[in-house]
Amino acid sequence: MTTNLLDQINARRTFAIISHPDAGKTTMTEKLLLWGRAIQVAGEVRGRKADRHATSDWMSMEQERGISITTSVMQFPYKECMVNLLDTPGHADFSEDTYRTLTAVDSALMVIDGAKGVEERTIKLMEVCRMRDTPIISFVNKLDREIQDPLALLDEIESVLKIRCVPITWPMGMGQDFVGVYHIKQDKLYMYKKGQGSQISEIEVRDGYDHADVRDRLGELVFNEFVESLELAQLAAEDWDEDQFLSGKITPVLFGTALGNFGVDMVLDTLVAHAPKPKDHQAVERIVRADEPEFTGFVFKIQANMDPKHRDRVAFMRICSGRYERGMKMNHVRLGKEVRVSDALMFLAGDRETLEEAYAGDIIGLHNHGTIQIGDSFTSGESLNFTGIPHFAPELFRRVVLKDPMKSKQLQKGLQQLSEEGATQVFMPQINNDLILGAVGVLQFEVVAHRLAEEYKVQCSFEPVSIATVRWVHCDDKVAFEKFKKKAHDQLSVDGGGYLTYLAPSRVNLQLMQERYPEVEFRSIREH
Ligand code: G4P
Repeated sequence: MTTNLLDQINARRTFAIISHPDAGKTTMTEKLLLWGRAIQVAGEVRGRKADRHATSDWMSMEQERGISITTSVMQFPYKECMVNLLDTPGHADFSEDTYRTLTAVDSALMVIDGAKGVEERTIKLMEVCRMRDTPIISFVNKLDREIQDPLALLDEIESVLKIRCVPITWPMGMGQDFVGVYHIKQDKLYMYKKGQGSQISEIEVRDGYDHADVRDRLGELVFNEFVESLELAQLAAEDWDEDQFLSGKITPVLFGTALGNFGVDMVLDTLVAHAPKPKDHQAVERIVRADEPEFTGFVFKIQANMDPKHRDRVAFMRICSGRYERGMKMNHVRLGKEVRVSDALMFLAGDRETLEEAYAGDIIGLHNHGTIQIGDSFTSGESLNFTGIPHFAPELFRRVVLKDPMKSKQLQKGLQQLSEEGATQVFMPQINNDLILGAVGVLQFEVVAHRLAEEYKVQCSFEPVSIATVRWVHCDDKVAFEKFKKKAHDQLSVDGGGYLTYLAPSRVNLQLMQERYPEVEFRSIREH
């Protein structure tokens, strides 16, 4: 393998931001892009509050933000690294899409609103990260406002999120009196200056933290409180241990204000210095090392109509090993077909361009004309199937009622595409022509209705249906399976991916069927 390939792969940092709505994820993203020189000036975030909670973030975002954050993945260089930032969908519900996005990153940045502390959605997202031992960097945001006692915040992170904290910086003052942050290891004080939020400006850095003017500004009492809390924080903090960080047991904590563009570069410095280079990936057949020369990757997300100008569907692929080169041939493993890819996309802030090359850790976009599904593996030849990209059995179901019966074709198409994207799951019962939607969170239905109307010009409503849960059914014994299928005919359906499913009217019914047909597997996760 050429050193160049290794160098390129080792320089990749692929991460996502996890946070509770309103903690500052969007603002942080924008400022990260600013530091990555992917944008020149950060636009102000305003006027979004009214829309934000109505349905989901991305709907209003594209219309109202200067840059398109809906591009889901953004790449920019920072120092010696190439950084890939993946957007986790902003739905208030925990969604499958979020889960799958987190399967495509090597680390995560947790943004916490300093005034509100650890909030519910962050807890949920951390659970997902913990399942994969994803390393976490923490950023306590909004220091330009009155926040909670920093020591109490660390305590809360440790007790609620079950991850031990190692403060990298420590805040001096807050709100009106926010002086800046003290970098513990460097023994330097970074001075905050108001009004620098939309561009990169020189920051004043001083040795140590004890300066007469700082004492004056804070007053003796507050200054002494700072010294005391810093000492306590240092006393209580874990020692830095790279392995503990890489296995998600400790988290470096930084303080700042995304709005004020302060502390953001320190987050990037921490990411570059400590976040892991591309990880190895498990396939059914074997473990694939990131530094293998042969190209491999898997699709974790499909998005339709990303850009109204293009009206297309893009499959997002995480490259697991090797290098992508424009025009290369790939093996579409599930179809056993060789495809030539000459128009893969990469994403820059608000923009996309045809890609010449990409490396393990990068996310590339493939134009999808209906042949690519979430979970599909691509290689430069070998038959490999990456695991761990699941579809979960939905818990909520609705029957789709079309307002204009003439539009049933558009409806079919829209639902097919939205289910490929993972925005919802669609089930077609064998017994009738109903279309049943399944979701993990109730907000997903709203999103689907909104998108059907906006993107496919189809008005529809949903009505309740008596389905309690769904299972993907499979049986190696053909005779037994036929017997089951005959008996269960009225409850069987095919999902958006063409897989046979059992729609259980109740949990009791499901249990009875499982007891009666022990040869049949009833799977609650459809995993590739
Ligand atoms: P989200 O994507 O996590 O939902 O959060 P977003 O970045 O949209 O930020 C939510 C609100 O918090 C925004 O206010 C944003 O300006 C504000 N915000 C983000 N970072 C900071 C920070 O460091 N300091 C302060 N003071 N505010 C911050 P908004 O939608 O404009 O509403 P409003 O606060 O103006 O009412």
